[in-house]
Amino acid sequence: MSIKIAPSILSADFGRLADELQAAEQGGADWIHLDVMDGHFVPNITIGPLVAAAARKATRLPLDAHLMISDPDRYIRPFVDAGVDSITVHAEVTPHLHRTVQEIRNAGARAGVAINPGTSQELIREIIPFVDLVLVMSVNPGFGGQKFIEASLGKVRRVRALLEESGRGDADLQVDGGVTTANIRQLREAGATVVVAGFAVYNQEATVAENVARLKTAASPA
Ligand code: DX5
Ligand code: ZN
Repeated sequence: MSIKIAPSILSADFGRLADELQAAEQGGADWIHLDVMDGHFVPNITIGPLVAAAARKATRLPLDAHLMISDPDRYIRPFVDAGVDSITVHAEVTPHLHRTVQEIRNAGARAGVAINPGTSQELIREIIPFVDLVLVMSVNPGFGGQKFIEASLGKVRRVRALLEESGRGDADLQVDGGVTTANIRQLREAGATVVVAGFAVYNQEATVAENVARLKTAASPA
């Protein structure tokens, strides 16, 4: 099973965002990952629906909005109206996760649920039947360019087992944070179907296309 690459714009040059999105699209990326942060749920502030709408005009790739915000319900409709294809919310921010997931789907987007490194996959057991994607954070959310938390690999295996056990082998399992050519194959083998890559794609060492190609090559079976 091949793995999808979703570059995170967090490490891109925001002064040339359209070019950076085009480079990802032409470089073979599968999705674009939009890291939305409110400075409350995480210690950083990034973008909102306005930038998502600008991204929508710059690329045909699916836009994958990762809402690291305390009150996601308020922003489902604005992000769907901006043109995002999927919305992922953190299980840690609401006791009404089932309602939020239903709202995302009713608004016409794919629904994802994310868990932080310190959150057990047991927290999302009951919502698994209702989502299209589970996002396993492999760094503490808030910043790009962080080091991959090694314990995440075991968690990916546990989430994969949970998906299969729940009859949701069809759902995407996305890993987000510190993904590089050094760990992407292990993540695919552990059951990930999508990886987010910020610094591994947008860095000074190589072009976006070269970095995407390196990740795809590193991910393929030995
Ligand atoms: C962190 C974000 C991640 C991050 C990934 O809060 O959710 O998407 O930008 O960037 P890298 O791949 O550089 O860790
Ligand atoms: Zn993210």
